Amino acid sequence: MPRYFALVPAAGLGARMGLALPKQYLPLAGRPLIHHALATLCAARRIARVFIVLSEQDKVWDQQWRSADHAAFDDKLVALRCGGATRADSVLNGLQRMVESAVADDWVLVHDAARPCLSQAQLDALIDEVGDDAVGGILAVPVADTLKRAGADGRIDATVPREQLWQAQTPQLFRYGLLREALEKSRGVTDEAGAIEALGHRPKLVASDACNLKVTYPSDLALAERILLNRTLLKGTN
Ligand code: CTP
Ligand code: MG
Repeated sequence: MPRYFALVPAAGLGARMGLALPKQYLPLAGRPLIHHALATLCAARRIARVFIVLSEQDKVWDQQWRSADHAAFDDKLVALRCGGATRADSVLNGLQRMVESAVADDWVLVHDAARPCLSQAQLDALIDEVGDDAVGGILAVPVADTLKRAGADGRIDATVPREQLWQAQTPQLFRYGLLREALEKSRGVTDEAGAIEALGHRPKLVASDACNLKVTYPSDLALAERILLNRTLLKGTN
C-alpha cells in the first residue's frame, strides 16, 4: 500500500510581509503561524510523516520548537534543514532528503507553511479525490472576480475571460517518484502541478475555498486569524 507523506516548504523570507521575522513565525491566533498547518497535517491519520523544509540559516525554529505544543505534532514531524533559493528548490531538496523514507509510489502532499487555515475537510477531500488518480491533483478555487490585464501604465489593456480559470492552492498531491522527476527536469515553476504539467500530464483540480488563503501581505494575517478563531469558536459550540 502506498503511504502518504506531507512536505512543508518553510524556508522563505516573507519579503512581501515587510517584517524582519519571516512570516511563518509571526504570531497567529496564539501560536506561531507555521504551527497551524503542521498541526492539521500531523492530525491527519492517513499521513504517515510530516517533513518540514527549513532554511539552513534559520535561527528561529529551535526557539519556536521549544515553545511549541509537541502533543499537536504526535511525533510525526521531521525537520530538514535544506531550504533552497526558490520554493521549487526547497521542495526538490526536501524530496531528495526524503529518499530514505519514501518509495516511488508513495504519495507526497506538498503544502505551504504560509497557508495556516487548511482544514481537515479540505485535506480529506484532496486525498479522497486524488488517492487513486494516475497523475495526482491539487486544491484550487474557480476564479470569481472579473480579470483585467494591465498595461505598463497601470491602465486596462483587456478583460480576460475567467471561464475555466482556477486559482491554485496547496496541498498539491503527487506520487513521490513522478514529482521528484518533474521538479528535477523543470525550471522556474511556481508550484508542483506546473512541473507535472511540463511533463505532459494533466493534474486533477479539487474544489477548495477561499479560507485556505496564503498569508502574503500584512492584511492577510487579520483575515487568517478571524478564520482560525471562528473555527475554534464553532468547535466549542458543537
Ligand atoms: N518557500 C521556501 N523556500 C523558498 C521560498 C519560499 O520554502 N526559497 C516557502 C515559504 O516559506 C512559504 C511557501 O514556500 O511557506 C510559499 O512561498 P511564499 O508565500 O512566496 O513565501 P515567501 O517566499 O517566504 O514570501 P515572499 O515571496 O513574500 O518573500
Ligand atoms: Mg516567495
